[in-house]
Amino acid sequence: MKPWGGRFRERTDARAERFTASLAFDRRLWPYDITGSLAWARALARVGVLSDAECQAITGGLEAVRQELLDGTFAFHAELEDIHMNIEQRLIERVGPVGGKLHTGRSRNDQVALDERMYLKDSVERVEEALRATQEALVARAAETLDVPMPGYTHLQRAQPILLAHHLLAYVFMLERDRARFRDCGARADVLPLGAGALAGTAFPIDRAALARDLGFAAAAPNSLDAVSDRVYVIEFLAAAAISGMHLSRLAADQTLWATAEFGFVEFADAFATGSSIMPQKKNPDVAELVRGKSGRLYGNLLAVLTTMKGLPLAYNSDMQEDKEPLFDSVDQLEAILGVLPPMLASLSFRTERMRQAAGEHFATATDLADYLVRRGLPFRQAHEVVGRVVRYALEGGKPLEALGIDEFRRFSDLFEADVKAAISVDASLRARGVAGGTAPEAVREALALARRLVRS
Ligand code: ARG
Repeated sequence: MKPWGGRFRERTDARAERFTASLAFDRRLWPYDITGSLAWARALARVGVLSDAECQAITGGLEAVRQELLDGTFAFHAELEDIHMNIEQRLIERVGPVGGKLHTGRSRNDQVALDERMYLKDSVERVEEALRATQEALVARAAETLDVPMPGYTHLQRAQPILLAHHLLAYVFMLERDRARFRDCGARADVLPLGAGALAGTAFPIDRAALARDLGFAAAAPNSLDAVSDRVYVIEFLAAAAISGMHLSRLAADQTLWATAEFGFVEFADAFATGSSIMPQKKNPDVAELVRGKSGRLYGNLLAVLTTMKGLPLAYNSDMQEDKEPLFDSVDQLEAILGVLPPMLASLSFRTERMRQAAGEHFATATDLADYLVRRGLPFRQAHEVVGRVVRYALEGGKPLEALGIDEFRRFSDLFEADVKAAISVDASLRARGVAGGTAPEAVREALALARRLVRS
């Protein structure tokens, strides 16, 4: 018998029942559903809808149902559609008809929004902590590689020398903004929908501000229609997850590229790599590849819910039941990614000699050569032109910049003096970039100190 069966003459078709049921996925909301129901029972008692004895019976019954759910002895029934009706029916089985008073003035519409917001607030906390742990792993690697230069790239072409630590810290600051985005989403989700009823507000004089406090919400939603038809807290979470997934994907893509024979900047620990079923020599960066790959489904989940919500008339529509699987999947995937990334990062071996060697190759300090001329008064545009010709000359002679003699430099400009050789070393190039946010060792040390402070909070 359905809780809503009174109006119906016929049974639900088994196919329709299977199609509409959400129990398979919304059962994970049970802890929140119980907590929400306990608070609702207390709120009903405060306004006299439940006597103290009734409230106690319901509360005791809900506690017992919670125990069954914890023990794994709770019998789920898919024909009861969702977790909300499963729990309510079980309560009635346990405490008798008084259990049927719990749903007074409440609807699954405000109930599901409540459960979901509570789930989301908890998820935000866990994800934020996992992001922090990932930042910590990056900060640790940055701290130990403060003296390692590597080539920086633009267009994936050697560009200018940078410090490896500078590259790693870039991700720490990205993840810092991701954390802020999740916190922000959590703060906006912190609004109580309960008391909105089906759509128009409950007809019992519930003190919603007190109920909000009881359930740990910052405030009660100021409009009942908005309260039950809004799913932007889900969308914001999914957007934050998609953005963070993109950052983590880029981090993983860097490491995957660096692990190639062509780059050879990093080696994955055996524990975080896999082999090939046919090629005995292979060591594949599967973990990093999947971190990169999972960003696709994080984007998909965002698009799914955005699209589901588009054009829905107010207030609740069953379409909105489709928000849960994408939300749960993004939470799960993000937690999976952030569970494996810190140990993977901690176990990477950076091939620092190769990085150091590569840092100065391929005319990486040509900009410094131009800056040298600028410091001697030449307008930058002319200096760029002069150095471009020096580079072409060196390329044609098959020599690196540092192999050119002072007489060769002077063929292009008499502003060149003997000290030009020192000005185009990797160290000089790095040291020159002491600007705040730059890659000079001093500036990176400052950024590291800032990153440490951020990550500790
Ligand atoms: N399982 C539903 C959902 O997830 C709960 C709300 C159902 N409300 C309704 N009137 N059918 O959205």
